[in-house]
Amino acid sequence: MNIIIFGAPGAGKGTQSDLLAKNFSLKKISTGDLLREEINNKSDLGKKIKDLIEKGQLVSDEIIIDLIENIFKDQNKNFNFVFDGFPRTLKQAEILEKKLKNYNEKIDFVFNLEVNRDEIIKRISGRIFCTKCNKIFNNHFNSPLSSEHKCGDSYLKKRADDTVEVVEKRYDTYIKQTAPLIKFYIEANNLHTVSGLSSINEIFGQITSLIKQ
Ligand code: AP5
Ligand code: MG
Repeated sequence: MNIIIFGAPGAGKGTQSDLLAKNFSLKKISTGDLLREEINNKSDLGKKIKDLIEKGQLVSDEIIIDLIENIFKDQNKNFNFVFDGFPRTLKQAEILEKKLKNYNEKIDFVFNLEVNRDEIIKRISGRIFCTKCNKIFNNHFNSPLSSEHKCGDSYLKKRADDTVEVVEKRYDTYIKQTAPLIKFYIEANNLHTVSGLSSINEIFGQITSLIKQ
């Protein structure tokens, strides 16, 4: 089973993808995480994309498609993915479809998490993540203090692109370059729109029941 979690910055893609990966034994592919890893490792690719990401722009389709192709090549026919933040342009969506076809695979569900701009800005301004276990938290909604997070506060960090100024740019980029994909997936007949404003568990419950229907 292959799933896309789609939505604006801060819609909850990473949060829901982690739950799906854990509960349905899927491999989470977050292009944002992969790109941040390149930046942290100071690789040639990381140096090339750092500025773009910190300005809230998309990296090129070619870079993303290379990342995905490398993952597909290593899969040995075991395709059970949850894609988080990919595809993000029409070109990426078309190439993903073609590549999956080459492996006799397809996208089974696209879940579009709908969240308004004000909520996004509030969520992003409160987001922190653990550099050790990669778990995502929120100072306003989902505090590491109230969860079973064991790594300790010293590992908690904010993302470099999580300032209000950059989030506004990321949101504009989403509206211009990514939101048009909604039409593509409506036409492909596998889009399910879910309100991203409910609680994390309620949203996961809705997604789970759509999968099991
Ligand atoms: P990426 O890392 O994908 O960032 P994004 O799309 O901006 O999304 P976020 O990770 O900010 O939010 P999310 O939807 O995952 O929300 P989360 O679950 O964390 O991409 C970063 C950059 O990389 C892009 O800007 C671009 O430059 C580049 N890039 C990546 N992929 C690319 C591609 N395919 N093509 C080109 N460029 C690409 O939740 C947010 C916060 O809210 C958290 O604190 C969480 O705890 C909280 N929260 C979650 N759900 C709820 C809820 N239901 N109620 C209350 N709080 C909640
Ligand atoms: Mg994310």
